[in-house]
Amino acid sequence: MDLERALADVVGARHALEDPELRASYERDWTGRFGGPARVVVRPADTAEVAEIVRLCAAAGAAIVPQGGNTGLVGAGVPRNGEVLLSLARLDGIGEVDAALGQVTVGAGATLAALQAACSHAGQDAGLDDAARDSCTIGGVVACDAGGARALRHGTARAHVVGLEAVLADGSTVSRLSGLSKDNAGYDLPQLLVGSEGTLGIITAVRWRTTSALGARVAALVPVASTQAAAALLRALRAEAPSLDSCDFFLDEGMQLVLEQQRRASPLSQRAPVYVLAECAARTDPTDELAAALARAGIEDALIADDTRSREGLWRLREGHTEAIGHLGVPHKLDVGIPLAELGRFLEQVPRVVADAVDGARTILFGHLSDGNVHVNVVGPDPEDERADDAVLGLALACGGTISAEHGVGVAKARWLERARGADEVGAMRAIKRALDPAGLLNPGAVLPSAGWSVLGGLGRRP
Ligand code: FAD
Ligand code: MLT
Ligand code: ZN
Repeated sequence: MDLERALADVVGARHALEDPELRASYERDWTGRFGGPARVVVRPADTAEVAEIVRLCAAAGAAIVPQGGNTGLVGAGVPRNGEVLLSLARLDGIGEVDAALGQVTVGAGATLAALQAACSHAGQDAGLDDAARDSCTIGGVVACDAGGARALRHGTARAHVVGLEAVLADGSTVSRLSGLSKDNAGYDLPQLLVGSEGTLGIITAVRWRTTSALGARVAALVPVASTQAAAALLRALRAEAPSLDSCDFFLDEGMQLVLEQQRRASPLSQRAPVYVLAECAARTDPTDELAAALARAGIEDALIADDTRSREGLWRLREGHTEAIGHLGVPHKLDVGIPLAELGRFLEQVPRVVADAVDGARTILFGHLSDGNVHVNVVGPDPEDERADDAVLGLALACGGTISAEHGVGVAKARWLERARGADEVGAMRAIKRALDPAGLLNPGAVLPSAGWSVLGGLGRRP
């Protein structure tokens, strides 16, 4: 029996998609830059079906790309070379939120928004957020070790993983969903899978750490004169406002683009080179604490939003960047982390190094100030043209930063991993990969470049 037929027997014909039209939405990534045809798209219903699919693929020597909500931005959640696309979307159950313990078991395919809603219902807070919340899945979030604005206070996805269940490359299942917060028996396989981007195992469920919900929130949009002033403001807020929950930034070019796309006027009376968006959360109204911290930092002009509607309005300016940039063309998205002391130099130099690398390329910058996490978006170069990517990543390393802060390495940055981490560390990573996936069938070409990897093979051809 051929593999497609055997897979259809496992998941049912309705969930084994061979028709190109039905496969299409699984085969192209959110940016439009990455993707290619899948051999077949399979949509299992539970862990047992995932394990059977992996066993069949292993026996047939067929490579697998796991996919959750397909909102990843580094090309690793879509097929590149005719792999089997394994969608976890149907594993979307959410268990009871244990408010006393601050934990919940979540199926890999549950969306972040669904987890947030379940937590909120139980007086808890999932502690992680991003603008793709309605589509991205907990399996994908954990596989990427996603961050988002609230990592300032709550850490990245890693900090929320108490344990997980996963199917390994040979079809075996490891399960640590008991929720014991102290359990150090043996190697911590769950944490090894966090941030492994589908290359070490297929995550089927996650035991997620929650925190008590803090009902009172306030946000401030602060126009400042420079990135140095933005960094100084962050330091002041960290010192003076213990309820600080997030602190992002964007530049005037991005602000104007978003205002234009969203057909709205600026809520501020004046333009500024840089805008800081800070939010505090506490049990009791943190407005006075935030206002006092801003005053002590010498800020006279800030827009305070102390109700949900106006807070969300301010966040739409920041979160709207991704979509607004997408309207300009297929973006090259480079998510880097820069030490705060070097942030000013990086932000000043990056548009120039990009323009020097590719004539006419346009650079739009925004990100999570609190983590030195800059989202460098370049529009103009062809999807396959990597000169701007190289210029940005080279500058990030020269500034003592990292090539990936929260989006992951994927296929987009795999060939940069050795420059970022060094040969010895990448050698150790390869040893782990060989031990867990000796045939190299799980997401080949992601994170660690495969032998014979080429730009076109890695990026996938555009249709
Ligand atoms: P997918 O895109 O489906 O997959 C991503 C990676 O995880 C791939 O390598 C895939 O193979 C692997 N994977 C998926 N599911 C599993 C699984 N069950 N087991 C093993 N591997 C799996 N990221 C941030 O960190 N912070 C942000 O603020 C942020 N904002 C975003 C805003 C927008 C509008 C968009 C489009 C994306 C944003 N992202 C952000 C990027 C993205 O990383 C997150 O949305 C999320 O982590 C991806 O989840 P997903 O289910 O869509 O994963
Ligand atoms: C964000 O912070 O909005 C995301 O990481 C998405 C992006 O970089 O576009
Ligand atoms: Zn981000």
